[in-house]
Amino acid sequence: MKADLPIGVFDSGVGGLTVLRAIKKRLPHENLLYLGDTARLPYGTKSRDTVSRYAVQASSKLLERQVKLLVVACNTATAAALDDLQTLWPDLPIIGVVEPGARAACAASQSGRIAVIGTESTVRGGAYHRAIHKINPRAEVIAQACSLFVSLAEEGWLDGSIVEAVASRYLGPLFFTEAAPDCLVLGCTHFPAFYGAIRKVLGDGIRIVDSAETTAVAVEEELRGINGLNSQTSNGRAHFMTTDDVGRFARVGGTFIGHPLDECDIELVNL
Ligand code: DGL
Repeated sequence: MKADLPIGVFDSGVGGLTVLRAIKKRLPHENLLYLGDTARLPYGTKSRDTVSRYAVQASSKLLERQVKLLVVACNTATAAALDDLQTLWPDLPIIGVVEPGARAACAASQSGRIAVIGTESTVRGGAYHRAIHKINPRAEVIAQACSLFVSLAEEGWLDGSIVEAVASRYLGPLFFTEAAPDCLVLGCTHFPAFYGAIRKVLGDGIRIVDSAETTAVAVEEELRGINGLNSQTSNGRAHFMTTDDVGRFARVGGTFIGHPLDECDIELVNL
């Protein structure tokens, strides 16, 4: 294990930057290599086989560049392809976002009634149901696909009346009922961008969790366990790859990572 190699992180687009941001905050000395497959986004409306093929291609690109650990920072790709990736690269530590998200939800929910929102593919595959039930077999899980959120996020529309109307349309049937859940899992890496709008629609009583923080914890635990943490004292570097327009990646990605992205750090790649 070469501890100074970067941690590889991939997503279908810029949403996974929320996970990269959490890793960077928790492990500031680590070098990070991010790939956003923006040319083929969305993954969330595609079949399991297609998403798995894309995930293998994206992972191969990161492995070509040498990474010490791979983070699948996309719920759709985790749900569809984590097992395939682990079978293909049994010696590489690979961490998905579904299990950490499920852990965060079970820790946050007191009633055991948990709502999950994600892409069509994530919801259809039932990965969150399985991951939550593994931790709490008595949990009641309801899931709702919120596909429009992905387009809104990629467009940079993160708040305002249109976003709130969309949030209300998706979340109303889940929450404005008698036995409402007490916890909402943002089961798509694009959705933390809508935290403000979702909070406005749901009010203060509901716990809203996403997998970014818990994934960063899982990355730290894994690297610590294999003696793979970078011991450098200076801050790590981050390099980005995208499969489509660099300018757009910089512009939209900046809103997800929380600071402007320099186009010089972003490379156009072909998978
Ligand atoms: N990043 C994907 C996820 O977390 C959503 C975007 C897409 O549909 O590609 O599920």
